[in-house]
This record gives sequence, structure tokens and C-alpha cells, in this order.
Amino acid sequence: MILRSIGRRLPLYALPFVIWSCNRQSESGNLAGSQPEAANETHVSAATQAAPAPAADDPSALRERAKLLFKPLPDSMESSARPLTPEKIALGRQLYYEKRLSKSQQLSCNSCHDLSARGSDVRARGTGQFSEGHRGQFGGRNSPTSYNAALHVAQFWDGRAADVEEQAKGPVLNPVEMALPDAATAVKVLKSVPGYTPLFAAAFPGDADPITFDNMAIAIGAFERKLVTKDRFDKFLGGELTALSHDEQRGLAAFMDVGCVACHSGPGVGGGMFQKLGLLKPYPTTDLGRFEATKSEADKFFFKVPSLRNVASTGPYFHDGSKKTLHEAVATMAEYQTAKGQLSGAEVESIVLFLNALTGDIPADYVREPTPLPGSPSTPKADAS
Ligand code: HEC
Ligand code: HEC
Repeated sequence: MILRSIGRRLPLYALPFVIWSCNRQSESGNLAGSQPEAANETHVSAATQAAPAPAADDPSALRERAKLLFKPLPDSMESSARPLTPEKIALGRQLYYEKRLSKSQQLSCNSCHDLSARGSDVRARGTGQFSEGHRGQFGGRNSPTSYNAALHVAQFWDGRAADVEEQAKGPVLNPVEMALPDAATAVKVLKSVPGYTPLFAAAFPGDADPITFDNMAIAIGAFERKLVTKDRFDKFLGGELTALSHDEQRGLAAFMDVGCVACHSGPGVGGGMFQKLGLLKPYPTTDLGRFEATKSEADKFFFKVPSLRNVASTGPYFHDGSKKTLHEAVATMAEYQTAKGQLSGAEVESIVLFLNALTGDIPADYVREPTPLPGSPSTPKADAS
């Protein structure tokens, strides 16, 4: 019955995603670790059906419609499988900024996901598409923001890590990122810094030998699970109808009418599923996306639909970092992902206005960089080779 009543109020195209978001709600708001039913579907009805004209003149009706597709961000992205404690979070914060987890001792997680700059790489904005890692090397993909990432169905553009805890093991050992040779080296570094011994013991009280590579990643993940940036859209969804300006509300209506919500929905305005990039016409990329993780033919050119929270400040855009401005990114999306195809300049502008309202508040106290812990004579030296 729920579906029937929703069906009356919503255009048909929105239904699969409403069903999806209803299912998710029953799981205590946590999206990490499992895939929604819509994942990997090649057919997206939203993108192939014409939508009615925007009508944003009734903010209350607009909010009701939006509430069926989106949800406010939670305070914490904790899950029952990954319980948080203040000790784990404090350790995770220290590790997030720990440069000695990189071979050159010049790079930390924060280098490519700068928490004072909305979790993206400020350097990439000036220098080009990708983030610079060890010895000035570049990987082949644009770095996404770490804010709100714990909400996502999986981590990385291709979803190859199930959650932020699993993800955190990747960059430390990635030769073009932090470039430590192996997990044992990371453990050696951590054990050589005396200040880490009590921090790990407090974060993992049951463990006889708490300083492990897995525990390092679990602590970093714990810290990331509170990297939430609430914004004016949350206020609007919560009932504060003036939190979005009239023009931003029109942008929200256009975002829904054009069919962007077929893929960008839920609390992250994205992050909930994998979809084909180039649904309506082939997108020029040599990156096979999710196929790299699953080796399944059906996953070729599928990518995780990114969350659009903070998107105005996380450029460049797309996995390939090929678009410098949000205007270009929005126009490209309409062209490759929706039946609407070409948007007018005014339509692009309107959607961009709405997307700008997704710029959230940085939790400044929570993300404040801690003082680095002093090393000891056994702490490995920086190696720039
Ligand atoms: C040299 C730059 C660099 C460093 C250092 C780095 N990352 Fe990343 N990060 C990236 C890139 C590039 C991607 C996307 C790679 C991909 O999808 O294949 C990424 C992806 C992620 C994601 C997935 C987000 C999403 O939306 O899928 C998270 C979370 C993340 N990194 C956290 C971390 C943490 C935690 C650390 C420290 C342990 C770290 N990163 C260190 C560049 C970096
Ligand atoms: C069929 C699914 C689908 C639809 C419909 C869709 N998108 Fe996307 N969107 C994606 C995928 C997948 C990506 C990631 C592309 C990549 O890997 O580079 C993406 C990426 C983006 C990005 C870049 C975000 C970033 O951090 O780099 C923006 C902005 C965006 N979409 C906006 C929109 C807008 C606006 C619309 C409506 C005009 C829209 N999308 C419609 C699937 C979709």
C-alpha cells in the first residue's frame, strides 16, 4: 500500500529508487557494506523517460516530493558491524594525519583528502586531474572526498573495498600513493612511535597485541564515520522551507525532473549504487570501472554513482577528472546519462545553483589536526626513492 500511495504522487520513473530508499531505511540508516537492489542494473527507467516540467512554486509540495527520494545526512555513519568508541576515533584522527605511514614521510591521508578543504585534493585543482602521490607519481583516477564517504554502498570509483575500514588499507601500500612496501613496515613504524602504544591499547582493549595493520585501518575508518557535513538541503528536508532560496528550489525541481535522481538519491544524493557511465551514448574513457573489481562483462564502464554532497568544492569531476567546472559536469551528465540530452544554459545554471546548496559545514573541532607524536631512534627514516 505504501507503494501505491507513493505512486500516485510521484512520476513513475522515481519508483525503483523509492523502493530502494525504503529498503535502506529499515536497516538503521547504514548503507555501508551491502549493495542496494538497484546496483548494477543496466536499465534505468528515469534516464529514458520524459519528465514533467519543473514546478517549484509550492515549497511544501517540493519538500514532500524530495523526501521520497532523499534523506537528511545522519549525525554519525556508525554501523553495528563497526561500532565506534571515542578512543578509536582519537586514534583514527592521529593516523589520518600520520605522514610516517608513507615511504617519503611527506604524505598522509589528508594530503589527498584535505579535511579543511572538504576532503578533496586542493593540489589537484591547480595542477590537473589527479592527486600526486609518492615521488610525484599520479594514479589514473581522481580522488573523491572522504567526507560522508562512509555512507556509500562501497568505496572507490569501482567499489572494490566494502567499507571505509577496508579502504584505508589500500593507499598506505599503494606504490603511487603512500608507497610503504608491506603491512609489516606500517606496523613497525607505528610500534616505533611510543605514543601509539597507549592509543592502540585504549582503542582495542581486548587485544593482546593491538598494534596491527587491520586495527590501524579500523581506527581510521572509525574517524571517517563521523566525517559528516550537514548543509542547507538537510534543513530543507527537515522542514525549514526557507533554507533553500527560491532559485535553489527550482534547481532541486529540475534535478528531479531531468532524471538525475534515478542515480543520485538517498542521503548522499548519490553513493548508493553502481551505474553505467555512458548510459545513453558511449563515454570516452579507457577505464573499465567496476569490471576491474569484479571481472564481470556486465560491469564494464559501471562506476559508483558519486555522492553530490559538497560537489561544488570537490572538482575536478568524474573518475577521470576531465571536467574542471560543475557546469561542464552537469551538462555532460545530462548528455550521457539522461534521455533529456542537451540542457539549456539556464537549466544547467539552475541545477548548479541547487548543487551549491549541498556545500556543508565542516566539523572544524572534530577534524583539527593533532600534534604529531614524537618518534624514537628505531623509527624508520624518510625514503624518497
Ligand atoms: C596520493 C593521494 C591519496 C592518498 C595519500 C590517499 N588517497 Fe584516498 N583516494 C585517492 C584516490 C585517487 C582515490 C580513488 C581511487 C579509485 O577509486 O580507484 C581515493 C579513494 C578514497 C576513498 C573512497 C571514497 C569514495 O567515494 O569511494 C576513501 C574513503 C579514501 N580514499 C580515504 C583515504 C584514507 C583514509 C587515506 C589514508 C590512509 C587515503 N585515502 C590516502 C587518493 C589518495
Ligand atoms: C544513470 C545514472 C546517472 C544519472 C541519471 C545521472 N548521473 Fe551523475 N553520475 C553517475 C555516475 C556513474 C557518475 C560517475 C562518473 C564517473 O565515473 O566518472 C556520475 C557523476 C556525476 C558528477 C560528478 C561528481 C564528482 O564528484 O566527480 C556530477 C556533478 C553528476 N554526476 C551530476 C549529475 C546530474 C546533475 C545529473 C542529471 C542531469 C546526473 N548526474 C544524472 C550516474 C548518473
